[in-house]
Amino acid sequence: MSDSLHTPQHLPEGGSADPDKAWSGRFSEPVSELVKRYTASVYFDRRMAAQDIRGSVAHARMLERQGIISAADLADIERGLAQIGDEIARGEFAWQLDDEDVHLNIEKRLTALVGDAGKRLHTGRSRNDQVATDIRLWLRDAIDQILELLTEFRCRLLDLAEQHADTPLPGFTHLQVAQPVTFGHHLMAYHEMASRDAERFVDCRHRTNRLPLGAAALAGTSFPIDRESVAAELGFEGVCENSLDAVSDRDFAIEFTAACALTMIHLSRMSEELILWMSPRVGFIDLADRFCTGSSIMPQKKNPDVPELVRGKTGRVNGHLVALLTLMKGQPLAYNKDNQEDKEPLYDTADTVIDTLRIYADMIPGIRVRADNMRAALTQGFATATDLADYLVKKGLPFRDAHEAVALAVRTAEQRGCDLPELGLEGLRESMQAVAGAGERLGDDVAAALTVEGALQARRHIGGTAPEQVRAAIARARARLR
Ligand code: ARG
Repeated sequence: MSDSLHTPQHLPEGGSADPDKAWSGRFSEPVSELVKRYTASVYFDRRMAAQDIRGSVAHARMLERQGIISAADLADIERGLAQIGDEIARGEFAWQLDDEDVHLNIEKRLTALVGDAGKRLHTGRSRNDQVATDIRLWLRDAIDQILELLTEFRCRLLDLAEQHADTPLPGFTHLQVAQPVTFGHHLMAYHEMASRDAERFVDCRHRTNRLPLGAAALAGTSFPIDRESVAAELGFEGVCENSLDAVSDRDFAIEFTAACALTMIHLSRMSEELILWMSPRVGFIDLADRFCTGSSIMPQKKNPDVPELVRGKTGRVNGHLVALLTLMKGQPLAYNKDNQEDKEPLYDTADTVIDTLRIYADMIPGIRVRADNMRAALTQGFATATDLADYLVKKGLPFRDAHEAVALAVRTAEQRGCDLPELGLEGLRESMQAVAGAGERLGDDVAAALTVEGALQARRHIGGTAPEQVRAAIARARARLR
């Protein structure tokens, strides 16, 4: 046997045809060992064992309430499932590849433990609605965990933004120095992204949180079931309204993965900036050593491995989104075995986002800001050129003329190898001679307009980078988080 994905080494191989196989009666020959491995899912879907047991308990209780099974059967089922839950938690459950998936493994063990009551559990149910229920329960937990981690990440971002509400650094467009902003304002841009991410997960949770059970294989069941009570017991907001859709819908998984892909893209963009800022050529920040590694050959190196891996892992989540979209695009109604392929991308997506958010929340407070380098970078690139143009406009010059006048001033400063304020009042006037009405509009107050602080203070509307506005944005964000 090779050790490919389909030959998990850690599960016992079965021998011949299993007479207990849930669907064996109709078949005259056993599946080959390879087909068994190819079609089995237990080596990954056993992650949903707890959800499978919860769903089964709720289903059994409903069967008993509706008089479909006896109280004695229910007691046996509950006792058996509780024991199975313990066995799994203790790592003592003997998972069998022969039993295909998490559902059949648990059901078979239940029957071994409690006899006929175990065989009655599957009344009015199919693995099709069962698996859909398990995934939704599992995903709901994952969403709740992600929402908690997003909140923590946002709190850490807000704390750092508050510390640096006054710290200037160059804002870039096209990676060229554009205008001064504060580091706090820059961080708040990432907070906005994270708050939209949280909204998306909350929204996607509503559509995830619906009960498929009762759809059975695809058409519903002839037993007098009560779906609403099962939904209520499992904390679902309602039932899936159409039995065919209930067993075949995986929209919620795609929506979740899309939300995760966007979250990862935001974290990847931030990672790219951390990497850039940490480069000795930029030197805006330093990352705590515990998020970096050295080089095996170059003793001087401190590499930002964690942000680089966040950037890299974004690729796998984007890939899972495409995998799930592709999984669904050709499926006729209702359930098809294709759907079994939904789980690994979903699990890996959730694992990746959860670990990334965890590590990010820890990494933010480990950012050491080098404000001196940020400020020094503002003396290159004529960051207050727009402010000079705005100054001229406020003195009555049309904006396009002001733009041209400042472009001439920048050219002069560039030739002299200095920044705009260093041209002085006379130098500025001289440089803009070619634009009628520009130079004479400059007064002594232009010096203040050309300072970094002046540029920051001037942008004091909502959403602007003035420190007071950054602090107000932080306060609003904290209020929303509470
Ligand atoms: N392991 C299966 C899955 O993950 C469970 C449903 C199987 N249903 C069936 N009709 N074969 O989708």
